[in-house]
Amino acid sequence: MIGLLSYLHFLALFYATLIIKTMDQPNIYQKNPIAVEVEAGKKYAWCACGHSQKQPFCDGAHKTCSDIRPVVTTFEEAKTLWFCGCKHTKNEIGLCDGSHKTL
Ligand code: FES
Repeated sequence: MIGLLSYLHFLALFYATLIIKTMDQPNIYQKNPIAVEVEAGKKYAWCACGHSQKQPFCDGAHKTCSDIRPVVTTFEEAKTLWFCGCKHTKNEIGLCDGSHKTL
């Protein structure tokens, strides 16, 4: 009986850890960047969780499936930027840094 309880305790801890790790990891939307022509002064919220249907930007999907929050940024000038689609970039505003090549 003690063996069974230990086994069940192990399973409970295993799955709890798995769920917590899954919630901390972003979903890989795609393994390459997404080009966007940004406008000067407009606010952009880059999706960091990878669950948005409006990539590369946030649609609020993180509220139901992740603890990962979007990154909000404005740009001083209009230009074309390459936003991360794999959600593993280390760039602080969500621009591609080449991390997708290691996935
Ligand atoms: S698409 Fe994520 S780092 Fe390039």
